[in-house]
Amino acid sequence: VTDVAPPPSLSVLFVDDETNIRAGLQRMLRPMRNVWRMRFASGGAEALEMMSAQPADVVVSDMRMPGMDGGQLLAAVEQCFPQTARIVLSGQCDQEVALCTIGGTHVFLSKPCGADQLIRTVTRAWRLRPMYGEPRIARAVAALRRLPRLPAIYHDLVTASHDPDVSIDGLACIIRRDVRLAEKALELANLPMGPTRELATLADALRAHGKDAAQGLVLAAALIQDHDVPAFAHASGAHAVTTGRLGRAIADELGLPRPDVTSAFTAGLLHDLGHLVLPPPAAGWASAEGAAQGGPEGCAREREINGATHAEIGAYLLAVWGLPELIVEAVGFHHDPALADTNDVGVIAAVHAASVIADRGAPDQAYLDRLGMPDLVDRWRSADIPAGGLLPRAAAAGVSMGWAS
Ligand SMILES: [Fe+2]
Ligand SMILES: [Fe+2]
Repeated sequence: VTDVAPPPSLSVLFVDDETNIRAGLQRMLRPMRNVWRMRFASGGAEALEMMSAQPADVVVSDMRMPGMDGGQLLAAVEQCFPQTARIVLSGQCDQEVALCTIGGTHVFLSKPCGADQLIRTVTRAWRLRPMYGEPRIARAVAALRRLPRLPAIYHDLVTASHDPDVSIDGLACIIRRDVRLAEKALELANLPMGPTRELATLADALRAHGKDAAQGLVLAAALIQDHDVPAFAHASGAHAVTTGRLGRAIADELGLPRPDVTSAFTAGLLHDLGHLVLPPPAAGWASAEGAAQGGPEGCAREREINGATHAEIGAYLLAVWGLPELIVEAVGFHHDPALADTNDVGVIAAVHAASVIADRGAPDQAYLDRLGMPDLVDRWRSADIPAGGLLPRAAAAGVSMGWAS
């Protein structure tokens, strides 16, 4: 999906009680002054007053503020201005804060946040509203009895992953601070190769799967560890890893740029995250087969019962956790890629094909035809998934996926 410019008159309201932070935002976003109509409020009450005079398309709010805090403000915005996209920009990176506000928030960003990231996030919050801005999805997430918790090391890992100077060993070191999690991540990285571990250490795993895969591997490991649903084998690590590997191999074959190939792996790993937090309802859905069917029919059934599909709930959580847009979209549309409203051959197509093959389901054939790849799924169904981290294209070029360590 290519980035489209926001409508020229996108109206964005920033809320922060600290004068210097408001001034900093204003300075940082100067290049956007002809693209966005920007307003700044010093607190929740002022923000709501400004909204009543003139609603905003996007609200970006601090969390901890005297009087009305960010969570209360965004809940009020959700109530009175449901069309407005809501972003938390907080110095508090702790997960509790993120989860408390989950029902009222579309995206959670932690400070400090650069201009590029902020501009991208605001733009995408606006663009992706049809997907995770729907009140029924937020309601379904808010109704989850047990929300997944992000591991304590997660924030450090994400920060380090964005730092070009941090090596693979540095990343492995951060993950190893959580011993059980590190073990699970390594186990996942070795799937589906069984007990003979090809990848002996976490650093080996990151070299094989690519440095950019660290975030996805850790997230998948944490979710699978935290939601042990043995009766529900479909959501097990093997299915996640198979889909991840397939997604990556297909993305590679499609000639997507390297970061997109890794995104396809991560999205494949996490594509059924919604099943982990929301096991499908029992009647007729108890079997893995039933849950795997997906497609427009399965999705409609899930919407009827839960208010949202596992794909939508998974995408919603990933968006709140700040995963890249490409991954959020690929997860959100894995059963129904036509909803993404794009005919670009990209990560969405790769992950749709991978999930269909791993689920032994049927692809959206009209979508594949439109993309000019009618036989993509049939071809890959019979193909071997490349083992290890080496992909045909990368291998031919004599490089492993563990570039830039
Ligand atoms: Fe699925
Ligand atoms: Fe699946």
